[in-house]
Amino acid sequence: RPQLLSVDQFTRESVEGLFRVADVVQPIARRQKVSRVLEGAVLGNLFFEASTRTRVSFGAAFCRLGGSVCDTTGFTFSSMAKGESIYDTSRVMAGYVDAMVVRHPEQGSVAEFARATNIPVINGGDGPGEHPSQALLDLYTIQKEFARLGKIVDGAHIALVGDLKYGRTVHSLVKLLALYRGLKLTLIAPTALEMPSYIIEQISRNGHVIEQTESLTEGLKGADVVYATRIQKERFVNESFEGYKPDFQINQALVETVCGPDTLVMHPLPRDSREGANDLSTDLNQDSRLAIFRQTDNGIPVRMAIFAVLLGVENQLQHSMRDASW
Ligand code: CP
Repeated sequence: RPQLLSVDQFTRESVEGLFRVADVVQPIARRQKVSRVLEGAVLGNLFFEASTRTRVSFGAAFCRLGGSVCDTTGFTFSSMAKGESIYDTSRVMAGYVDAMVVRHPEQGSVAEFARATNIPVINGGDGPGEHPSQALLDLYTIQKEFARLGKIVDGAHIALVGDLKYGRTVHSLVKLLALYRGLKLTLIAPTALEMPSYIIEQISRNGHVIEQTESLTEGLKGADVVYATRIQKERFVNESFEGYKPDFQINQALVETVCGPDTLVMHPLPRDSREGANDLSTDLNQDSRLAIFRQTDNGIPVRMAIFAVLLGVENQLQHSMRDASW
């Protein structure tokens, strides 16, 4: 069954195949062309946690391919509030829609949705588990930005900062990056929020250099990419938020001191701009090294490519893009 539940499904070749489809659909994403390859198809967006980017960009990507979208946001707006199970919800939705994007606070829950149905199910974030489409658009962004800078992913130094324990985006991203060769991955986090050991074990098998540190200034030195994350306070069990908030902020002064002129500063967003909790300062907003809005823009072509592949319209889409009368 065509599903996107984890980046473990990918090889380097299949990732790059997906990115070629994303390149092909760029004119649609940029509103220079229109497509109707998903005309008549309906997407169910089932989000049981807050979302702006994932929910809206999956919806927009589906619409840009000619389909339409039904949104359900939050437990209170679904009959799960009345005790309905994941199994029943998924079976019912499969009768209404042609594909589902699901976000849910429990790790493994999206796979449970997928097991109950034959329609494509996409993991839009399962608790502290994975966020595969975000990692794909992040890697796509890194490749595009590196191409502009004359760099390649093989051999790159990527520093990941912040809440690496609960940050599902970084869980997916490091596994995708590990498909490449000779990377240096620096994992910068307080001890209580370190990357889970099962993920470090998995990525270590591919011969990358993996370093763990609590020091931002040490860890960022020589990095081609600084990938910041929000501290996922809402998932804390025994951890104390107070101990982490000031030490892991990426800001202009730090970037000027430690990073190079071509270092990319990335973040999956949302960044937390509340008093005392700023993981990525707004003082970098005018700095061209800040790639966060190029990341969000890339969400559309990458998510269009995901739909095209999962719904089997990839060839139709590629032909229609070549059609001179189109
Ligand atoms: N990056 C991301 O998942 O953003 P949202 O929570 O807004 O979807």
